[in-house]
Amino acid sequence: MKTIILGIESSCDDTSAAIINNRKILANVTANQAVHRNFGGVVPELASRAHQQSIIPVVDQALHIAKIQKKDISATAFTAGPGLLGSLLVGSSFSKAFALALNIPLVEVDHMHAHILVHFIETEGKKQFPEFPFLCLTVSGGHTQIVLVKSHYDFEVIGQTIDDAAGEAFDKAAKIMGLPYPGGPLIDKYAKKGNPKRFSFPHPKIPGLDYSFRGLKTSILYFLRDNLKKEPTYIKNNKHDLCASIQHAIVEILMKKLRKASAKTKIKQIAIAGGVSANSNLRKALYEEQKKLGWQVFIPPFEYCTDNAAMIAIAGYYKYLKKDFVSQDITPYTRYR
Ligand code: KG4
Ligand code: ZN
Repeated sequence: MKTIILGIESSCDDTSAAIINNRKILANVTANQAVHRNFGGVVPELASRAHQQSIIPVVDQALHIAKIQKKDISATAFTAGPGLLGSLLVGSSFSKAFALALNIPLVEVDHMHAHILVHFIETEGKKQFPEFPFLCLTVSGGHTQIVLVKSHYDFEVIGQTIDDAAGEAFDKAAKIMGLPYPGGPLIDKYAKKGNPKRFSFPHPKIPGLDYSFRGLKTSILYFLRDNLKKEPTYIKNNKHDLCASIQHAIVEILMKKLRKASAKTKIKQIAIAGGVSANSNLRKALYEEQKKLGWQVFIPPFEYCTDNAAMIAIAGYYKYLKKDFVSQDITPYTRYR
């Protein structure tokens, strides 16, 4: 049986629409918002306005690419949270209107769970999918979580950041260095030519499986401030080594707790998800542990790491199977539930 879902993602600064047929993605169209580049972060008001401009064109394009008519769609799924309220309202209002007009079910999706469920998208030649239970390090601009995934519907957060998220650590470090937002991909790019051992930054001492990234940010800030006093072009002269060392520190902090979580739960199926899972060093570190510790690792294709609607469509598909629908009075939420 064909189940065709229209997924809509608008939680932060990407407006995205995707069409899924069972577990195969037929289209995944994302409009990025360049408007935030020079502000060092996402400006909520500008994000909502840009979503309003992009939502209809991205849906239109997704339908066109998928060669799907509106009447063939079984349900529409949207990100209900967490995220920026103004941004979420655009996607949720669109989905409600779409469901009402076509008289089809409406499905709400949690953004963080959706990041994890990309591992169940069927792609050409893909043979292995994670088996339950598995661990997923979900690392994005707003969250850093180690999740014990028990089923497509059951997610237990067993560790999380007590302050900044890993993506935020990348973005804030980049901002201190004068790089535009989002800084994560740029640090990754410059790090490729740098020495990760040149500078060392202190690691947080947080008990259990939780993370903290604020101390790292402060130490980078003071380190650069002191060196800029002596050498005003210090950042420019050391850009590659700085990026490599900062990236090395963030990835090591992430991996340390992930290793601990694996040892504690005795689970060796390890996945990563979220924007930071696009980071080349994190991906490499996972493959190294696969060899050393016998992990079986699951790393999403690049197009499913940063925010996209394919992840909402696959999460919506699983909820559709359970007939887990919501009514028109559903409201978005800003924080992880
Ligand atoms: O999942 P995502 O697209 O949005 C949120 O849900 O927050 O994640 C965005 C985050 C940003 O902080 C961005 O800098 C980071 O993912 N990011 C990266 C890379 N690509 C995106 N961080 C490090 N290396 C990358 N290659
Ligand atoms: Zn995200």
